[in-house]
Amino acid sequence: MASPGLPLLLLLLAAPPLQPSWLPPPDTPEGKATITGFILSALDRATSFLKKRLPEINLDGVVGFRMLEVQLKGVQEKWAQDSQLQPLSLRVGKLVEKLAPLLHDSIFYLNLSDPEYLRQFHLTIKPGFWKLPRAWTHTEASMVYPTFEQEDSFSEELSDLCLVQLLGTGTNSSQPCRLSNFCRSLMTRPGCSGYCLSHQLLFFLSARMRGCTRGLFRQSQHYMNVFCANMMDLNRRADAIGYAYPTRDIFMENIVFCGMSGFSDFYKLRWLQAILSWQKPREGCYGEPAAEDEELPKAIQYQQQFLRRVKRREKQFADGCSSHNTAMAVAALGGFLYVLAEYPPAEGKLQPPTMTPPNQH
Ligand SMILES: *[C@@H]1O[C@H](CO)[C@@H](O)[C@H](O)[C@H]1NC(C)=O
Ligand SMILES: *[C@@H]1O[C@H](CO)[C@@H](O)[C@H](O)[C@H]1NC(C)=O
Repeated sequence: MASPGLPLLLLLLAAPPLQPSWLPPPDTPEGKATITGFILSALDRATSFLKKRLPEINLDGVVGFRMLEVQLKGVQEKWAQDSQLQPLSLRVGKLVEKLAPLLHDSIFYLNLSDPEYLRQFHLTIKPGFWKLPRAWTHTEASMVYPTFEQEDSFSEELSDLCLVQLLGTGTNSSQPCRLSNFCRSLMTRPGCSGYCLSHQLLFFLSARMRGCTRGLFRQSQHYMNVFCANMMDLNRRADAIGYAYPTRDIFMENIVFCGMSGFSDFYKLRWLQAILSWQKPREGCYGEPAAEDEELPKAIQYQQQFLRRVKRREKQFADGCSSHNTAMAVAALGGFLYVLAEYPPAEGKLQPPTMTPPNQH
């Protein structure tokens, strides 16, 4: 386990900046405040999108915003002591206030559209289910599989079935943390990529949130180490091919799930910059980019097969906004914000001189 503090700062600094280097390094109070301002502006716009489209947001979308709420509250707690951080802290407080009623009301709409699905997964959008990591670690390249399976054999139905067993919310209302042999082997199978892999991690992360510690879950940390090492490898590949659109969703999902699992090396400044740049400025959502940047060479299309495939209960709106994309983006951004708040500034206090938030609308 790595301690927070300086190592996180170094991780954020380690990657060379993306072409237009518009994010300052986060190693000064000013740089940190500027980056924080960018993230908060993006989250503000995304939350306005949520508000406008609430009846259409699916359950996965609500999960992402619920994770964001936890991260924002974590940030508030870190900043509570520091009067110099008050302007930023107030913005976070406003965002939490905007988010809370939306999350509450979303239940009503989810219940209208699919009450049985809501019943099975209601726990995962209840306050208190998602908790911030208590300790930080990082991925080990030595755990990357020698090869990935060619096909991402992910099945949303099977993944859901196993999660329901884990949560203990099946129709026969079994006990939580009890698994069939089928789920045990599905969720620990080596060689997965894409959503198959991210959902193996989600399974163990959910087990941690549910408090499962016995049997298979004695080895939870080991499996999480393996899965996140491979998710890191896939994210580097996505980065190397320029994050062609269909890979962005799984790329952000990997940051969200591994970040929540305590792997701090997913919080790279370069990746933050990329995610900020994908937001649709007008709608505030994330989704399909405007047509022009979609021509891809064959080699890149080939590589993408490791990264794309199914989109979990995807909901794509007519304007190219995606509920799942947006949810993953806000939960990833919330993680970046939390990490920025978590490591102490190099020389004591954050100063407020450049506190005017950039990019404000
Ligand atoms: C969904 O609606 C039904 C019928 O109105 C109600 O009994 C149930 O409690 C609702 N579920 C949730 C989670 O709100
Ligand atoms: C629930 O239990 C009943 C009776 O034991 C059984 O017939 C049914 O298949 C079970 N359903 C599920 C989803 O396991």
